[in-house]
Amino acid sequence: MAPKFQRIVVLTGAGVSAESGVATFRDPGGVWAKYDIEDVATPEAFARNPKLVQSFYNERRARLVTASANAAHHALARLQRDHPGQVTIVTQNVDHLHEDAGTSDVIHMHGQLRQSLCTRCGARAACTDDLGPQAVCGSCNGFGTLRPDVVWFGEMPYQLDTIYERMSDADLFVSIGTSGNVYPAAGFVAGAREVGAWTVELNLEPSEGARLFDEVRHGPATVVVPAFVDELLNAKGLTRQA
Ligand code: OAD
Repeated sequence: MAPKFQRIVVLTGAGVSAESGVATFRDPGGVWAKYDIEDVATPEAFARNPKLVQSFYNERRARLVTASANAAHHALARLQRDHPGQVTIVTQNVDHLHEDAGTSDVIHMHGQLRQSLCTRCGARAACTDDLGPQAVCGSCNGFGTLRPDVVWFGEMPYQLDTIYERMSDADLFVSIGTSGNVYPAAGFVAGAREVGAWTVELNLEPSEGARLFDEVRHGPATVVVPAFVDELLNAKGLTRQA
């Protein structure tokens, strides 16, 4: 039997990694309750105080050492592996937990903490240790300094062309664990609706844009995501309503 959906795009946010012990941003006690975005997550902040910005990301990178993929990450890897159609995973997360669960070709639209970026030549390199203000690039003979390969506010997210290309003929768009506060990701649901995709939100609670989705399911990602994936793979329940 043909699957109900052929081309699936999944967008994940911090909520998918919350139960792996990775802090979200806007929940009480989240990252932005402790830091100002303008102090640590903009190019201007890095120019002004590289030491503070590096230490903010060093701390977050260090915390990833003990984080492991949870049932939601594993369910999405299973979906990609077992679904006969195309499954694209786009994440706003800078952790590596989708890859740890076995998902391939993850689109990290906000970059990756375990990668450095040379501010001069643009070379990327694996980075599991702390970066300091004096960290220099191995690719341009030490002329460039290194920053975490994450996208800051005011910068262009990565791989938008690929994302929009996948969205252009998606028939199912699923948004998981994101508050819908940050564009362009927050606008993907509107784009998906424009191309006629069925849109689903899986989140602990209704997000900012929950009313834009055709279907919403609320609960912890480790519960709602595996259940949703089971239904998709068994082609049960998920009937498109015209
Ligand atoms: P947020 O912290 O804004 O939102 C996390 C969402 O996950 C919230 O809606 C929570 O209700 C939900 N959530 C929390 N725990 C959950 C769980 N166990 N299961 C399911 N959902 C849960 O994080 P994002 O939306 O990912 O960007 O944030 C988007 C971007 O804003 C981030 O990529 C980052 C941040 O500033 C940059 O730093 C550029």
